[in-house]
Amino acid sequence: MWRVKPLDAILATAEKKSLQRSLGAFQLTMLGIGAVIGTGIFVLTAEAAQKAGPGMMLSFVIAGVVCAVAALCYAEMASMVPVSGSAYTYSYAVMGELVAWMVGWALILEYAVAAGAVSVGWSGYVVGLIEASFGLEIPDALTLGPFDGGMINLPAMAIAGLVTWLLVIGTRESATVNAILVAIKVAALTLFIVLAVPVMNMEQFTPFAPLGFGGIAAAAASIFFAYVGFDAVSTAAEETKNPQRNMPIGLIGSLAICTIFYLLVAAGVIGTVGAQPVFSPTGEALHPGSRELAAACSAIGDGAVVCSKEALAWTLRQVGWPQIGNLIGLAAGLALPSVILMMMFGQTRIFFVMSRDGLLPAAFSKIHPKYNTPYVITVLTGIAVALFAAFFPVGQLANISNSGTLFAFAAVSIAVMVIRKTDPTRHRPFRTPLVFLTAPIAVAGCLFLFVSLDTKSIVLFCIWATVGLAVYFGYSRSRSHVGRGLVETHELDTDAPPGAVPPMPGAPVPGQPDR
Ligand code: ALA
Repeated sequence: MWRVKPLDAILATAEKKSLQRSLGAFQLTMLGIGAVIGTGIFVLTAEAAQKAGPGMMLSFVIAGVVCAVAALCYAEMASMVPVSGSAYTYSYAVMGELVAWMVGWALILEYAVAAGAVSVGWSGYVVGLIEASFGLEIPDALTLGPFDGGMINLPAMAIAGLVTWLLVIGTRESATVNAILVAIKVAALTLFIVLAVPVMNMEQFTPFAPLGFGGIAAAAASIFFAYVGFDAVSTAAEETKNPQRNMPIGLIGSLAICTIFYLLVAAGVIGTVGAQPVFSPTGEALHPGSRELAAACSAIGDGAVVCSKEALAWTLRQVGWPQIGNLIGLAAGLALPSVILMMMFGQTRIFFVMSRDGLLPAAFSKIHPKYNTPYVITVLTGIAVALFAAFFPVGQLANISNSGTLFAFAAVSIAVMVIRKTDPTRHRPFRTPLVFLTAPIAVAGCLFLFVSLDTKSIVLFCIWATVGLAVYFGYSRSRSHVGRGLVETHELDTDAPPGAVPPMPGAPVPGQPDR
């Protein structure tokens, strides 16, 4: 189970691919912003407020710093092993099959559950927009999951279904579409900041940390979700001009820009409508996404941002800009599906690589004869995402996704140190600065955020990991291609679906003209 997939075998094919180095610092930054801004800032701001109050400003900074150090480790691995599979492949080459399997297993949580979370976030905004624009009242039973006071979230299921269909027919986002969606998201957040920040009332910032540092840490662990997706930048290393310079600019640049936006937006929410948590009649802080909070919110007529499923639109409606609030809803409605698309794309490609390595059934990697996409796994992923989206609250899904992501980030940060020792001379287009300081900080940061997650998510992660171990020892170990002496790599398979993992929205696809 410690067998590794030889790095040279992995790289032999990657070298043959010879992608064009066409991406500069600007494109990389756009790529990062396109993948990152989504449900985190648009929706989870309300959850963070319930956990930390105004102290959520600090939570955004903590989560951003952990991502920045992890990003620097990711970039070294990505530039050295620029092939499909991301953290899973890096771990396979460096730390052996069992660790790789567990990382791949955790990435299923990262991508599929995150796609569910973003679908629920999308539903909140679109339902709010329809209700506000047409004066309609859509029954909660059909638009909210059972933990949020409804029965089933049909719009979230519908968007997951639509995105699945787009992926089956082979949709990839072009650079132009990515640029337009980035512009829409940035314009929406800018508009929010311009309208909210000037009318802030500084008194809303006290008490700053009503639930103490524990609350700030818990909110940081949730809001970490708002930064997930930057790994898309590091996987574009191979296509980057002068990666040693441009990669850190792209990674840190997009994270810094997002952090600044997030802080200004959070300040705007706090300063205008206040961000104090809602307490139970007995004075207990209620858990976001719990039936108790849903009940407390209906008792106060949803009159707090922490009760809103569309925090930014709700805030603008409260401060006298209902039409602009609707516009923000429209922007979220247009832009969030691309985040779902990227997450599900990443998921299908991870499954594809794992199944091609023999660790998952070969039937999973079956390619559609007409669309050249791994349709079996795409449809299975789509069904799982739709079910998550139908029944679970957005914050819980985000936290579960974060648990998987944090595990993968920690594994990559360890891998980067291990391979510096075991293979110091290998060519590294990008080197993590001060790796033996940066990587341990990244590991410690991931661990800190992991233990700050809610207990339910931690327990679910442990159950998921246990199931993963059972599947590995019961099925995958004996079927592994590496284990059976088959160490071929298939990067150039004509039947392989296009694209690296995680997805690179807007990046040119090898062998295909940019659309
Ligand atoms: N960072 C992405 C979002 O917030 C996943 O939606």
